[in-house]
Amino acid sequence: MKILMVCLGNICRSPLAEGILTHKVKENGLNWEIDSAGTAAYHVGNLPDERSIEVATKYGIDLTSQRARQFKANDFKEFNVIYAMDTENYNNILNLAKYETEEQKVKLILNEIEPDSNSSVPDPYYGGEEGFENVYQMLDLACEEVLNKFK
Ligand code: 4NP
Repeated sequence: MKILMVCLGNICRSPLAEGILTHKVKENGLNWEIDSAGTAAYHVGNLPDERSIEVATKYGIDLTSQRARQFKANDFKEFNVIYAMDTENYNNILNLAKYETEEQKVKLILNEIEPDSNSSVPDPYYGGEEGFENVYQMLDLACEEVLNKFK
């Protein structure tokens, strides 16, 4: 199984989603590949935001080997499922798809815990640390569902 997590900058939400799901996958002894990317290029090559690193560390998850990269067309071929963190990025990814088979791979991550709600993981970038805790908790629940769905 190959799963890609996508947000805007690939420094706040999708690195947390990658780290959380990677942790669960390893705990379950599964040989899945988990990665993350951003639709925007502003932060390419950067470490995750220090607030994401901090909240993940609190739960025993290390994000410091991650570096931001931009989503690319080849990701549609490389991954089985592409999870967008919010509706804006969901639409931006869909706009890059060339085939229906590519479109079908793109999902909103919170629909795994609230089917058909089409809700978004709030962007915590301009807020305080409590926003990162909130994002962590949402993504932990969603990643647990993803794990159980495909394992
Ligand atoms: P992310 O958060 O999409 O969860 O990584 C953001 C990171 C950077 C910016 C916006 C959102 N930015 O505008 O630079």
